[in-house]
Amino acid sequence: MLAGCIGFFASGCSQSQPAKQKTMKIGVTLYDQYDTFISHLMDTFKEDVYQLSEETGETISLEVMDAAKSQSTQNDQVKMMIERGCDVICVNLVDRTEPTTITDMAEKNGVPIIFFNRELVPEDLERWDKLYYVGADAYQSGVLEGEIAAEAFLASKEMDRNGDGVLQYVSLEGEIGHQDAIVRTESSINTIMEAGIEVEKLGYAIANWNRAQAKTQFTAMWTELGDRIELLLPNNDDMALGAIDALKTLKVPREDWPVIVGIDGTSEGLEAVRAGEMIGTVYNDKEGQAGGMLNLAYAIITGGDLEAAGLKDGKYIRLPYEKITEA
Ligand code: BGC
Repeated sequence: MLAGCIGFFASGCSQSQPAKQKTMKIGVTLYDQYDTFISHLMDTFKEDVYQLSEETGETISLEVMDAAKSQSTQNDQVKMMIERGCDVICVNLVDRTEPTTITDMAEKNGVPIIFFNRELVPEDLERWDKLYYVGADAYQSGVLEGEIAAEAFLASKEMDRNGDGVLQYVSLEGEIGHQDAIVRTESSINTIMEAGIEVEKLGYAIANWNRAQAKTQFTAMWTELGDRIELLLPNNDDMALGAIDALKTLKVPREDWPVIVGIDGTSEGLEAVRAGEMIGTVYNDKEGQAGGMLNLAYAIITGGDLEAAGLKDGKYIRLPYEKITEA
């Protein structure tokens, strides 16, 4: 499915004076264009491509496709982008354990690939020297989420609703197998325990990063556990918002809500922090990731210095997360 093909032309180029350089072609394929974080990241990326084209006077053509959660569709899209002459392809892998069809095609045709957001294992990234990854450190996001929750628990007795000194919690998890779901779930709770807090896990559910699924899952959890839940640790803001939707639909009085901490800092997530519905979130730097990806793509295409574009160890650009408790 084609999500969009855009050509950005330097404002200085008139029709009678075509740009001297050949058009740069960047292809992007998304695992799911309806994922909130990914769609916001792409809006930023498109904006950055436009700015870059204005600044450098180069014509940059950007082709964005949606794999709609199908790895075989995504493989076909990469094949098509190679045939259409893309200079670099940015891949938001559907299945992070299945990159080899793409990496084999890329190597055979000499087209560099920048994977982003959905991290493949290092062995797969090592298969060819022109494979790169742009993203963030999943471990850090879980630690920061855990710190926000631990600080709140240590600062106020109210969070320990039943006064037993133990923090009763549930988690809402992203897709099975996604590095951010696995690592965030583990590192957030480990951080709380390392702060000296005793915890009890009352339950968990997989909601695939999705607000509507989280609403359904949390409705079931609340029906079973009710206000025994003192803390909700979702792997992202959309799932936190789904739980908040559930609490509102169930007309649970605000004083009975569990403490909720998100991850991403989407505009809706920040709004929930502002409204006091979440005590905080962890900012997933979509601007930094979009900018890092474009700087790297541009350096690759123009034969520039990849380290100066932010590349570390010849392979990675990772942007730091940030705690947000006041929006
Ligand atoms: C974000 C999620 C998003 C997922 C998609 C994660 O880094 O936190 O909101 O759904 O990436 O791969």
